[in-house]
Order: sequence, then structure tokens, then C-alpha cells
Amino acid sequence: MIRKILKWTGIVLAAVALVATGTYLFMSFSMKNRMDKTYKFENETIDIAADSAALARGKHLVAIKGCQDCHGTDLQGKVMNDDGAIGRLVASNLTNGKGGLPVDYKTADWLMALRHGVHQDGKPLLFMPSHETTLLSQQDMAALIAYCSQIPDVDNVLPGNDLGPIAVVMSYLGKMPLLSVEKIDHNRPMVAVADSTEGVAQGKYLAVSCSGCHRENFKGGEPLAPGFPPVPDITSSGHVGKWTKEQFLATLTSGKTPEGHVLKNEDMPWKMTAQYTRSELSSLYQYLQSIQ
Ligand code: HEC
Ligand code: HEC
Repeated sequence: MIRKILKWTGIVLAAVALVATGTYLFMSFSMKNRMDKTYKFENETIDIAADSAALARGKHLVAIKGCQDCHGTDLQGKVMNDDGAIGRLVASNLTNGKGGLPVDYKTADWLMALRHGVHQDGKPLLFMPSHETTLLSQQDMAALIAYCSQIPDVDNVLPGNDLGPIAVVMSYLGKMPLLSVEKIDHNRPMVAVADSTEGVAQGKYLAVSCSGCHRENFKGGEPLAPGFPPVPDITSSGHVGKWTKEQFLATLTSGKTPEGHVLKNEDMPWKMTAQYTRSELSSLYQYLQSIQ
């Protein structure tokens, strides 16, 4: 009797293990195909004026869009993550130093990356939030490219990306933003200029940078990865709905909420939000408050 039970338990366990392995292999194969695909988009170019106003705007955009959180303080590139579960995720060296972008990396190539989410050769960029940068106005896009094109060279040769099993499964299930190229509406034209006066419209434009974590509707949800805190609702139905504008500004510039909760920069990048201007933060507040 016992032998029989043991035998059946063994068979069931083996079957479960086989199905799990099969499912994983299938997901991994499917993700590999999607990552290896070559995309072809029409080359595009925009006027880049590297005057002092554009460079200052570009520098500000680099600060408030979190480019340095992933690409490093000097945009010299960095290994963002390297462990067995998620794997190795590497943000490119954006300078023209050793290991960086080729010297012939031109405006059209910047646009391939920032608007379409692909490398110069049409292969998808992994984990680069191009679905957000694609929504920049043409004026901001030009300023960003002007600024990034003149940053000092840094020699920094980096290893390649290497996805671990958790990243494969989460990406397959759509829980990790691996392939922005698949999320972008590639025919959407750039708006010429974004509204830069304080108010709801500017807040909406800026809030694109919050949507990756707080979700498209800003209502928050599950943690972004295992081991991280859940993402809160930042609309009028969450804590933010009870805060005054000054409390909102204080939270996003100090990392401390009116309820006394301390936000860790690794979870909620408040060192990035601290670099928004007061007027930009006020616009964000007005926009988030306007969402029921
Ligand atoms: C969440 C992290 C993250 C943020 C934020 C981010 N990047 Fe990236 N970026 C990456 C990663 C990772 C890659 C490399 C993708 C690859 O090699 O598949 C990348 C690649 C790129 C590339 C393509 C380089 C190449 O090798 O073809 C450019 C250009 C770029 N990023 C610019 C920017 C700029 C400008 C910003 C800010 C507006 C920014 N990135 C913000 C993660 C990020
Ligand atoms: C990389 C992911 C990420 C991005 C980008 C991000 N947040 Fe957060 N945010 C979080 C997480 C996670 C928390 C909760 C942290 C905790 O509980 O300690 C949080 C907390 C907050 C809180 C506190 C809410 C509360 O109820 O206490 C506010 C306000 C907030 N974020 C606003 C913003 C705004 C505005 C932006 C865009 C400019 C933004 N966040 C961008 C991940 C992010």
C-alpha cells in the first residue's frame, strides 16, 4: 500500500516538474524570439539647436526623467542589477567613450532609441522606458538629444544583458516592462511643444514618468518586483487626495510623507522628484488631484 502511494506521489511530482519545466522553456523561447526580432522604422530627424536654453532644458530633463538612476550620474552606463533570479540588466554607456555609443551615433539613432525603443540595428532595447520617452514633445526631445550628445566621454566597457528566470517569467506575463518597442504606438507623431504653464495639462505631461510604477491610471497596484513595497494610489482617492499642495511638495522633495512614512529612494525615486521645479510639482499635484 505505502509503496503504491509513494509510487503515485512520485509520478505526480515528476509530472508537475515536467509541466513546469516545459512551461518555463516555452516562455523562455518565446521571450528570446521577441528580443531577437529586428524592427524597421523610417529614419527620422529633427532640428537640434545646442544653444544654452536647450542645453539647460536637456540637463533638467535628464534629471527629472531618471536617466541617471539607470545610466549613472555621468550617463556612463551601469549594471543595474546582477543576481541569479532577475539576471543581469545593463544600461548603456551614453557617452562616446570606450564602451559607449559609436561616434557616428546621430540624431536619427537617438530617435530610434527614444521614440521607438530599438538600437541602431533595429533590435529591441531591453528595459529602457522608451514608451515614456516617446511621449516627449519635439522641443523636449531636441533639448534632450542636444544635451546628451555633448556630455563628456567616459570609458566604461560593460557586459551584456542576461535575463534570469524571474525576469523571463515576469516579462512573459507582462509584469515587467522589458520590451517597450511592443508598447509604443510607432505612428504617433510628436507634439511640437508641450504646455509649460503651471496647471493640469503640464501635470499630465509630466506624470508620464510616474505611470511606469504607479500604473497608467495612477491608482497603484502590486509591487513592481518580489520584495518591493506595493505601489500606492497617488490620485485624489489615495493619501495624496488628503494632502495640501505644500505637503505634496514636501513629500516629493524630502521623501517623508505627512503620515510619517519614510520613502526609500530605491522604491520611490524621490531624489528624482526633488529635482522638479516647484511649478512642475504644483502641476503634478493639480493633475493627480483632478483624477477621481
Ligand atoms: C529604468 C531604467 C532606464 C531609464 C530611466 C532610462 N534608461 Fe536608457 N536604457 C536603459 C537600458 C537598460 C538600456 C540598454 C538596453 C539594451 O541594451 O537592450 C538603455 C538604452 C538606452 C539608449 C540606447 C543606447 C544603445 O545602446 O543603443 C539610449 C539612447 C538611452 N537609453 C537613453 C536614455 C535617456 C536619454 C534616458 C532619460 C530620458 C534614459 N535612457 C532613461 C535603461 C534606462
Ligand atoms: C520606480 C518606481 C516609481 C516611480 C517612477 C515613481 N514612484 Fe512614487 N512610489 C513608488 C513606490 C514603490 C512607492 C511606495 C513606497 C513605500 O511604500 O515605501 C511610491 C510612493 C509615492 C508617494 C507616496 C504615496 C503615499 O500614499 O504615501 C507619492 C506621493 C508618489 N510616490 C508620487 C510619485 C510621483 C508624482 C511620481 C512621478 C513624478 C512617482 N511617484 C514616480 C514608486 C515609484
